[in-house]
Amino acid sequence: MVERGRTGNNGPMTMSSQSASSQIASIQTSTAPAGAVPAPGAIVQATARGPDDVRSDRLRGLPPFLFNAIDEKKRAAIAAGKDVINLGVGDPDRPTPAFVIDALAKAAAIPANHQYPDCYGTQRFLHAAAAFMDRRFGVSVDPKRHICATIGGKDGISHLPLGVLNPGEGAIVFTPAYPVYAQASLLAGATLHRVQCDAQHRWRPDLSPGNEALNAALPGSRLMWLNFPGNPTGACADVGLLAAAANLCRQQGLILASDLAYSEVYFDAPASVPSLLQAPGVDIERDAVIEFHSLSKTFNMTGWRLGFAVGNERVIKALKQTKDNYDSGPFNAIQDAGALALERFDDPLLAEMRSEYARRRDIAVAGLRAIGCELTPPEAGIFVWARCPIDTTTGKPMNSWRFVEKLIDEAGVVTVPGAGFADTAHDWFRLSLTRQTDRLAEAMTRLATLRF
Ligand SMILES: Cc1ncc(COP(=O)(O)O)c(C=O)c1O
Repeated sequence: MVERGRTGNNGPMTMSSQSASSQIASIQTSTAPAGAVPAPGAIVQATARGPDDVRSDRLRGLPPFLFNAIDEKKRAAIAAGKDVINLGVGDPDRPTPAFVIDALAKAAAIPANHQYPDCYGTQRFLHAAAAFMDRRFGVSVDPKRHICATIGGKDGISHLPLGVLNPGEGAIVFTPAYPVYAQASLLAGATLHRVQCDAQHRWRPDLSPGNEALNAALPGSRLMWLNFPGNPTGACADVGLLAAAANLCRQQGLILASDLAYSEVYFDAPASVPSLLQAPGVDIERDAVIEFHSLSKTFNMTGWRLGFAVGNERVIKALKQTKDNYDSGPFNAIQDAGALALERFDDPLLAEMRSEYARRRDIAVAGLRAIGCELTPPEAGIFVWARCPIDTTTGKPMNSWRFVEKLIDEAGVVTVPGAGFADTAHDWFRLSLTRQTDRLAEAMTRLATLRF
């Protein structure tokens, strides 16, 4: 599926005055084919800009933020006094480790830290990130040339396309995917190619020459996005797949960007979540590769906003130059605390976090299977990606918006419709593991009482 960054009279699908239900209805009826909804980043056909619409054509060319409709329904259920179990958000419920908080408190008291930050990263943070790459993945990098601190992974991911893509150049996103790869590429004026992955391939991209969608996307493309462990699928890639992607990008002249936000939330051995930079044949000095890391999920630090990009010097320089024009880097005190966190990535607290997520995963997998959901248990990450149960009136899996609505209305359980991650995932949904085992178990008990 090909979409273009805003160039013509595409415009908005304004939903602010609509109720949540009518928002959902309008989303469901706005595009073909039947049952599909505009994927995040899809260009929505619309009228010319009205006199009161302050938004640029670029912004109006993006689709409405689909999750707003779910949020509104959730708020209405809470206001009506329902005990809502929110399995929608991917935001860890557990606290940041105390040693990181203590480090912040000390660093925040140092006056030098109150000035503009070291934009690309403090010496301490850059060296801690390089040491993490070495100890965790066996990859040796130069902290000065190969690393840039970011204000969370989203900062780096959303700014990269502005730094490396000319309008009209192609960006390839394998879906279902975290929506920011597509949105940021479109905002940069890129031509977006969504290449579908499927359950049969365990949600990994088919990089073989036989993949016609990929073949059609490659000419004119300049950037390829990868995300393993994946949001929403929880799929992992081995070094073989990462090496194959890097080979393909090298041959075709593409920049390869990999998002490793969930690198430390694995359920098997750490080796099941490798870095792109450790894949055979990948050469950080030669290959146009970049990888995004985040402290958000590893250390329960989503609110702190800290991550880093590591990769080829030319690509890192393009990111730095872009960010120079948008921000001034993460607060130095947060970088100090983040450095300590990275130095202690092998703390027993993280092993305990992984065990807790594994327990939650097992509860969710069993509960969803019990109501007839098809799924592959996630290998990593904080989500379960499952197919909606069969609708007894049609004999087919339910539409994900209807399913998600039903769960909120009849069970007080919030999940996210799959259509938010791929336009072909209209009968899939995502469930987050960021609630305690008793709440997850309670959610599964409630689901078991529903009839589909
Ligand atoms: C796959 C993926 N990448 C990146 C991010 C961004 O995280 P942060 O900006 O908090 O590092 C998220 C957040 O949910 C995500 O799911």
